[in-house]
Amino acid sequence: MLSNLAEIEQEIRSFSVNGKDELENFRLKYLSRNGLLTQLFEELKNASKEEKPLVGKKLNEVKRLAESIYNDAKAVRDQSESSGTDIDLTLPGRNFSVGTEHLISQTLAEMVRIFREIGFKVTDGPELEEEFYNFDALNTPEHHPARDMQDTFYVQNKFDKDKKYVLRTHTSPVQIRTMMSTKPPLRIISPGKVFRNETVTFKNYFMFHQLEGLYVDKNVSIRDLKGVLSYFFKKFYGEKTKTRFIPSFFPFTEPSGQVDVSCFICGGKGCKTCKDTGWLEIGGCGMVDPNVFKSVGYDPEEYTGYAFGVGIERIAMMKYGIKDIRTFYQNDLRFLDQF
Ligand code: DAH
Repeated sequence: MLSNLAEIEQEIRSFSVNGKDELENFRLKYLSRNGLLTQLFEELKNASKEEKPLVGKKLNEVKRLAESIYNDAKAVRDQSESSGTDIDLTLPGRNFSVGTEHLISQTLAEMVRIFREIGFKVTDGPELEEEFYNFDALNTPEHHPARDMQDTFYVQNKFDKDKKYVLRTHTSPVQIRTMMSTKPPLRIISPGKVFRNETVTFKNYFMFHQLEGLYVDKNVSIRDLKGVLSYFFKKFYGEKTKTRFIPSFFPFTEPSGQVDVSCFICGGKGCKTCKDTGWLEIGGCGMVDPNVFKSVGYDPEEYTGYAFGVGIERIAMMKYGIKDIRTFYQNDLRFLDQF
């Protein structure tokens, strides 16, 4: 009987008046002569000696609760009826929470905005990519040691034996797709998801985002590349930001570089985030390798170009002081709500 009562109490507590008839139904159900509570008082006679005082006490409590809920609701009802409206102005307002855009989407949108202002167009490519675009056409044939730089998710293809598929390991294949379908000159950026078979840690995740850039025209030089990236990072991180380029290697660019920006946290003095170097590594870049131009049918004697690829999670982590890449994808509102 006690557990039955607890259930009834729950029901009563969660009662709220919406329609006209609900109040009367409530009264009939619990408080009237044939109502549930009256019945339970009847049944009290049959309860055991030990149970009786306990149940009796609880029953009285629940009855008082039902009466007070009924009386309060009725008073409000009467008042709104006498004022000629169905709207109860005394009820508290309802809160509803508003979602926000994910921090990665916000960061991407900001980056795209800055590049568009200086004439870059946004292009797109598939996440399930042919090996040809992801590697071969980017001057990375099979067995080329540079394929080991990226841990690839290979995807079985039972339908078309000529094609091999991967989850794209970088956004660079969009360079190839765009050049194959467009005549030079061109100036594009391409943001999107990439995938790598990495052990998940605070700094690595099996999926992340990159933004690719490509500029092809006559007489494009490495100065243009440096100018555009320096401009971009000043706009993005603030006017004091410095950019530096360190020689590196990528099969699809020659020469290739690593792009660093002065640490956003300490302003270049040296801190924990930049491991006391004052610099943070943000991506790769370089002048498009003539072999890449050949694979898309551009004449490398006539055209030159630069390309770059930067990691969005890294860029956002540095801007907002986020220490663990996994927090982006755990969908914890305590994290997501902050941005
Ligand atoms: N695709 C490279 C990576 O994911 C980054 C990169 C380096 C992109 C140099 C470029 C480039 O366009 O020119 O590691």
